[in-house]
Amino acid sequence: MSNYIWIPLLLFHSLTQLTSTQSESTLRLPSDSTPACPALNPDLNYRPVIGIISHPGDGASGRLNNDTNASYIAASYVKFVESAGARVIPFIFNEPSHILQQKFELVNGFLFTGGWCKEGLYFDVVEDIFKKILEKNDAGHHFPLLSICLGFELVSMIVSKDRNILEPFSASDQASKLEFMQNINIEGTVFQRFSPNLLRKLSTDCLAMQNHKYGISPEKFQGNADLHSFFEILTTTADENDKVYVSTVQARKYPVTAPQWHPEKNAFEWASEMIPHSEDAVQVTQNVANYFVSEARKSSNRPPAQTVLDNLIYNYSPTFCGAAGKGYDEVYIFT
Ligand SMILES: *[C@@H]1O[C@H](CO)[C@@H](O)[C@H](O)[C@H]1NC(C)=O
Ligand SMILES: *[C@@H]1O[C@H](CO)[C@@H](O)[C@H](O)[C@H]1NC(C)=O
Repeated sequence: MSNYIWIPLLLFHSLTQLTSTQSESTLRLPSDSTPACPALNPDLNYRPVIGIISHPGDGASGRLNNDTNASYIAASYVKFVESAGARVIPFIFNEPSHILQQKFELVNGFLFTGGWCKEGLYFDVVEDIFKKILEKNDAGHHFPLLSICLGFELVSMIVSKDRNILEPFSASDQASKLEFMQNINIEGTVFQRFSPNLLRKLSTDCLAMQNHKYGISPEKFQGNADLHSFFEILTTTADENDKVYVSTVQARKYPVTAPQWHPEKNAFEWASEMIPHSEDAVQVTQNVANYFVSEARKSSNRPPAQTVLDNLIYNYSPTFCGAAGKGYDEVYIFT
């Protein structure tokens, strides 16, 4: 009988001990222990701004705007940049060149988007911005470029000085693998921050969204002296007919990365059923965005804050065009 009385008493005793130990440790926190936040790295810019050039058209085959001067930026590129801690200034390709020149002084990195246009004013403006990016880096100012899909094709045309360098491939609307080149060092490249597991999955799972009709074979890329000396090939991919094309390149001496695939779509575009949305696929988007914006934080450019605000893409509103069930989900249109 006495056992039944002692067991609850012992339990009560140990419970009060626990409670008093906990509150003691809480109370014993020294008053000067509030940790000071470590100083930020003064060499980094924690408010990076990325320039994105608009592409001719409305991005929706005329469903939104038929103005011949209209241009657009798919909102997925903007969200991609925002998701990694940067803001966007739109470079409207057909605005006066002195405006583009002024805007260039406000940004810490640049993104060339996908699309189809490879000629005229658009090509000339892309070429001009590309040359300015190289000049900035040559002058000792770190300034990254992420050149996606059409961007890959345009910089290949510009660097090779051959407007006919591209070859046809069958890689429209498909998720693909990335095959890593032998003996490459991924240190300092976009792939460095990928976990070993995710890196492996890039070549076994289909985590890279492709949507292009042109490309360059590794043989042609390496056979071109200008392309070969400027870029290192990181990955290749086989198209629908098992024809292999270059899928990711990294400039040897510049913070310039060009994926023929679309890192931004996995997290931010929904119209095509082919776009991968698995956790792995979304991590691919996040890793590439973090890489790009971390490079932009190394830019020493510190533009006037108000001028940045006056030029941000938040001065425009995106339009939802995904209801058509095709194309982009949202676009910014400039007229
Ligand atoms: C643009 O033109 C096409 C073809 O004429 C038409 O179907 C479409 O409604 C027009 N778009 C707008 C926004 O007016
Ligand atoms: C398109 O832009 C050109 C050159 O800036 C200009 O001359 C023309 O008037 C514009 N057209 C329209 C329809 O806005």
